Amino acid sequence: MSRPQATGIDRRRFLGVAAGATVAVGLAGFGFLHGVPAARAQARGVGRALTVFYSRTGHTRSVAEAIHRRVGGDLVRVDTATPYPEDYDATVAQARRERDSGAWPQLATRVESIRDYDIVFLGTPIWGDHLNPPMKRFLSDHAAALSGTALAPFATYIVSRMGQVRGNILDIAPGVRLRDGLAIRGEDAARPDRDVDVWLGRLGLPLRQIER
Ligand SMILES: Cc1cc2nc3c(=O)[nH]c(=O)nc-3n(C[C@H](O)[C@H](O)[C@H](O)COP(=O)(O)O)c2cc1C
Repeated sequence: MSRPQATGIDRRRFLGVAAGATVAVGLAGFGFLHGVPAARAQARGVGRALTVFYSRTGHTRSVAEAIHRRVGGDLVRVDTATPYPEDYDATVAQARRERDSGAWPQLATRVESIRDYDIVFLGTPIWGDHLNPPMKRFLSDHAAALSGTALAPFATYIVSRMGQVRGNILDIAPGVRLRDGLAIRGEDAARPDRDVDVWLGRLGLPLRQIER
């Protein structure tokens, strides 16, 4: 599934996409891609939920899996039709071009039944302070069907927190009922359960009980 993150990412090159943000933490030492413990639901959760995410190095995936364990429903990973380069710098350069031009990549993933969900949890790594281009494309592809649907965004990041994600979502899919978002620093994404529980509680969603 997701590839391990290359280490030694150059701080200056990251800043190129982070649009001047101050990098306060290093990029090395992320831990992720743990197996998903089998979730043993004892009670139903929030109605029909879709958790959909893009993840290059596993952080956003880890948060998505934690949300899915709590709310049930379906978990969908978004893949681009053509994978991004393995090379970090090449990915940064491509992502910057896509962000600035609005030419988001075509996807291999489509959720035909998306209008059947009561709530969509939409996860992205922050790229260049934005919702990343694949998730912009996903939203754009499904914008009409999502009109009127509750959408709760979540993001992983290094410094940007939610960045411009809320504005990006409302630009692309103005018909969604946008709920509060959750931002988790990438280095904390391997242990997201407490933050996820607090967030879902704030959203007022009934959680299913899970043995951990
Ligand atoms: C192309 C690219 C651009 C990025 N831009 C930002 C940024 O603007 N702000 C930030 O805080 N982190 C930025 N990051 C770091 C990622 O958001 C962070 O490592 C995230 O947790 C990765 O999630 P993933 O493992 O699910 O791919 C960027 C990473 C990449 C690959």
